[in-house]
Amino acid sequence: MNENMLNPEQYSHEPIEELRLRPSSFNEYIGQRKVVENIDLMVKSAVKRKSAMDHALLSGPPGLGKTTLAMLISKALGSELHVVSGPAIEKKGDLAAVLTNLKPRDVLFIDEIHRIHISVEEILYSAMEDFRLDILIGQGASARTMQIDLVPFTLVGATTRSGLLSNPLRDRFMAHLHFDFYQDDELGTILNNNAKKMEVSLNQDANLEIASRSRGTPRIANRILRRVRDYSLVNDHKTISVDDVKKALELLDVDSLGLDSMDRKILKVIRDYYNGGPVGIEALCATLGEDKQTIEEVHEPFLLKEGLLLRTPRGRTLSDKAIDHIN
Ligand SMILES: Nc1ncnc2c1ncn2[C@@H]1O[C@H](COP(=O)(O)OP(=O)(O)OP(=O)(O)O)[C@@H](O)[C@H]1O
Ligand SMILES: [Mg+2]
Repeated sequence: MNENMLNPEQYSHEPIEELRLRPSSFNEYIGQRKVVENIDLMVKSAVKRKSAMDHALLSGPPGLGKTTLAMLISKALGSELHVVSGPAIEKKGDLAAVLTNLKPRDVLFIDEIHRIHISVEEILYSAMEDFRLDILIGQGASARTMQIDLVPFTLVGATTRSGLLSNPLRDRFMAHLHFDFYQDDELGTILNNNAKKMEVSLNQDANLEIASRSRGTPRIANRILRRVRDYSLVNDHKTISVDDVKKALELLDVDSLGLDSMDRKILKVIRDYYNGGPVGIEALCATLGEDKQTIEEVHEPFLLKEGLLLRTPRGRTLSDKAIDHIN
C-alpha cells in the first residue's frame, strides 16, 4: 500500500498555528449557510435513525472549508474520520482494505475524488450503494466474484472539479453540496475569531482590508493574517493597522483585488501574447509554463468569479475590467 494513501496524520504536517485556526465546532464554521443547513439536517437525521449519514459530495475551489466540514461531520456523528487521498489509492485492494476496516457509521473522507483511478472507483459503486464489496478473483474461465459485506458507513467526497467525476460515481452521492467563495463580511468574522485565537489585536479597517484581498477564501485570509501579524509584531505595533496590512500585502505581492503574481501573469500573458484572447487553456498553460490543473483549479475560478476572465466557446478572454486592472 502506498504509504501516502492513508493519511489521517496529513493535517499534523500543517503548522501548529494552522491547526489551531481550524474551526472545531459548527459555531466557529462561518458562512456556507446552505451547505451547513443541509449537513445539519443529514447529521441529525442519521443520529435519530441510529444509522450512517447519507453519502455527500462536497465541491468547490481550494481552501473553502471542505476538509474542515468533513471533520465536523464525523465529530457531530460521534464517529471516526478516515482520510484518504483519491489519487494516492493505487490498487483496488488498497481501497478494499480501507473499507473493510471501517466501523459502523464511520466517515470515509476521500479528498480529490475526481482523480481516483477508474478501476479503483468501480469498487466504490457497490460499496456505496449496497455496503458490499464485489471483488473479481482469478482470470478467464475460473474467474469468479467474491462478495464481502461492509458495515454501513458514510462516504464524504471532496473535489475541486465536480464536472470531472464520472456519472455512476456522482449519482451515488445522495447530497451534492457546492461551496461558494465567501463574502467579505464572513471573512471578516473568521479573521476576528482567528485574531483572538492568535492573541493579536486587529482594528476594523485592517480587518476589512484583509477580507477584501483574500479572494473570498478563508485559507488565504488566514495566511495573510499570519504575515500581517509577523509584520506588526516585528515592528512593535500594539494593534494591527491598515497600514501594516498594506505593507505586508506588498511583501506578499498581493494587489488591490487580492490577485497574486501568478493571477496577474495569466492576465498579462493573455494580453501580450494573445491580444486579449480568446485563447485555449492548453496554449495558455504552455505559454505560462504552468500545469493545467493548477491554472484551472486554483487560479481560474476566482478570475472568472471577479469577471476578469471570461469563458467563451473559443477559449478564455480578458474583460475590460481585467485590462484596466493590469494596465
Ligand atoms: N467556514 C469556515 N469558517 C472558518 N474557517 C474556515 C472555514 N472554512 C475554512 N476555514 C479555514 O480555512 C482553512 C482551509 O480550509 P480547508 O482545509 O477545510 O479547505 P478545503 O476546501 O479542504 O481545501 P482543499 O480543496 O485545498 O483541500 C481551514 O484550516 C480553516 O482554518
Ligand atoms: Mg481539503
